[in-house]
Amino acid sequence: MPILPRRRYAEPLLLLLLAAVARSTAAAPDVVELILLTGAQEKGAVCLDGSPPGYHLQRGFGSGEHSWLIYLEGGEWCDTIESCSNRKTTELGSSKLMEAQEFEGILSNNQTVNSDFYNWNKVVIRYCDGASFSGNAEAQDQDGSTLHFRGLRIWQAVLDELMEKGLASAKQALLSGCSAGGLATLLHCNDFHARFPKEVSAKCLPDAGIFLDIEDLSGKRLMWSVFNGTVQLQNVSEVLPKDCLAKKVRTECFLATELVKSITAPTLIVNSAYDSWQIRDTLAPVGSYPGQSWLNCTNDIGNCNSTQMEVLNGFRKKFVDGVKVVKDKKDWGLFIDSCFMHCQTKYSISWSSQFSPVLGNMTIAKAVGDWYFERSKTVKEIDCEYPCNPTCKLTG
Ligand SMILES: *[C@@H]1O[C@H](CO)[C@@H](O)[C@H](O)[C@H]1NC(C)=O
Ligand SMILES: *[C@@H]1O[C@H](CO)[C@@H](O)[C@H](O)[C@H]1NC(C)=O
Ligand SMILES: *[C@@H]1O[C@H](CO)[C@@H](O)[C@H](O)[C@H]1NC(C)=O
Ligand SMILES: *[C@@H]1O[C@H](CO)[C@@H](O)[C@H](O)[C@H]1NC(C)=O
Ligand SMILES: *[C@@H]1O[C@H](CO)[C@@H](O)[C@H](O)[C@H]1NC(C)=O
Ligand SMILES: *[C@@H]1O[C@H](CO)[C@@H](O)[C@H](O)[C@H]1NC(C)=O
Repeated sequence: MPILPRRRYAEPLLLLLLAAVARSTAAAPDVVELILLTGAQEKGAVCLDGSPPGYHLQRGFGSGEHSWLIYLEGGEWCDTIESCSNRKTTELGSSKLMEAQEFEGILSNNQTVNSDFYNWNKVVIRYCDGASFSGNAEAQDQDGSTLHFRGLRIWQAVLDELMEKGLASAKQALLSGCSAGGLATLLHCNDFHARFPKEVSAKCLPDAGIFLDIEDLSGKRLMWSVFNGTVQLQNVSEVLPKDCLAKKVRTECFLATELVKSITAPTLIVNSAYDSWQIRDTLAPVGSYPGQSWLNCTNDIGNCNSTQMEVLNGFRKKFVDGVKVVKDKKDWGLFIDSCFMHCQTKYSISWSSQFSPVLGNMTIAKAVGDWYFERSKTVKEIDCEYPCNPTCKLTG
C-alpha cells in the first residue's frame, strides 16, 4: 500500500516509496524553471527576506493555448518574529533558495495523467510570505534587518505580470493550490474571478485548504493560535471579506469555513475529511497525549484503535458540518474523501492513478474535470466514514 511521507510543512514531499510507485507507471515529470518577478522591490512585493518572489510557467499548447491554471504553493504559516526569521532562511521565505520544480498531477502535461488540463498554461506561484499570500506589513527581524510581510502584494504583482503574459486573454481559468495555498485560493478566489470578463469561465479549486478551529487532545486551540498570530503579525486584513469583518474578528474571517460563505465564484473543494496534517498537527500533536500512545494512529489511520477512531470521527463530523453550506450552492462542488491524506491534486498518484480515491465512480481528476466543464449536473461527493471506502489506498 503506497504511503505518502510525513513532513514538517503542511504539504507533502515525495517519499522514495511513492516516487518508486510513480516511476514504475510514468515517465519522469517535467521540470519547469523558476522565473523571478520583475520590479519586485519597487512594488514592495517581496519574500520575507526581501528577495523577489518566484513562479514557474509552462506554456499551454493546442486547444489549451488560451486556458490557464494558477496553482498556489503551500507550506504552513509563520506567526511570530522568531518563526518568520527562521522561515526566511528557507525556500519558503526566500527565492535565493528556490529551484526548478517538477509538474505532475493536475500540473502534468501528460494527457494520460491529466486528460482535461494537460495542454493548459500552468503556473505555480511559490510561497515565500508565510501568510497564505495575504499579509501586508513589515517588522524588525531578530538580526536587526527588516522582515517583509508582503504576501498580498506578491499575489497582486505576480497576477498582474501573468495578465501581461497572456492570462488577460484567457478563455478558461482555474485558481488552485494546496494546504496554505488552498486557503490562499479561498482568500483570493473573488479577486481572481473579478479579473476576467463575464464570459470567461473562472473558477476555484482549493485542495486541503479547509483548516478547522478545533481543540487538540489537551484542549489547546493550535490552529486558532497560529492563525491569530499570523493575522496580527503580518497584518492580514484587506483580503478578508467585508461582510465577515462586519460581524467577526479578523482571525475568524481567515477561517475557510467563514470564507466559503463570501465566495461568489464557482468553487470545488477537494479535501480529506480525515486531513492527515490536521489530525497529526492540530488534533493529536505530540505533547497533547501521554508519551507515544497516539503516534501509531497519527502516522497511519489504519493503526487507530476504536477509541481513537471515535475522536477522528468527531473531527470528520465537524469537517462535514463546516462544508455543508456548499451543498446548496449552485455551480459549487465537493470531493470530500475519507483517505488519510493532505494535498491530493498535485501528485499524479492521488490525482488519477489506480491508487487515486474514487467517489461516485470518479477519481479526483475526473470529478474536477466534470465539475469544471459542467459535464455532470453536480459533483457533491462526501465519502462515508473510514474505512468504508476500499479505494482509500494512500496514506499521507
Ligand atoms: C504518460 O503517462 C503514462 C501513464 O502514467 C505513461 O505510461 C507514459 O509513459 C507517459 N508519457 C510520457 C510522454 O511521459
Ligand atoms: C494593515 O493593513 C491595513 C489595510 O490594508 C492598512 O490600512 C494598515 O496601514 C496596515 N497596518 C500596518 C501596521 O501595516
Ligand atoms: C490574538 O493575538 C493578539 C496579538 O498577538 C493577542 O493580543 C490576542 O490575545 C490573541 N487573541 C486570541 C483570542 O487568541
Ligand atoms: C505501535 O506499533 C508498533 C509496531 O507495530 C507496536 O509494537 C507498538 O506496540 C504500537 N504502540 C502502541 C501504543 O499501540
Ligand atoms: C486506544 O489507544 C489509546 C492510546 O494509546 C488508549 O488510551 C486507549 O485505551 C486505547 N483504546 C482501546 C479500546 O484499546
Ligand atoms: C459506477 O459504475 C458502475 C459500472 O459502470 C455502475 O454499475 C454503478 O451504478 C456506478 N455507481 C455510481 C455510484 O454511479
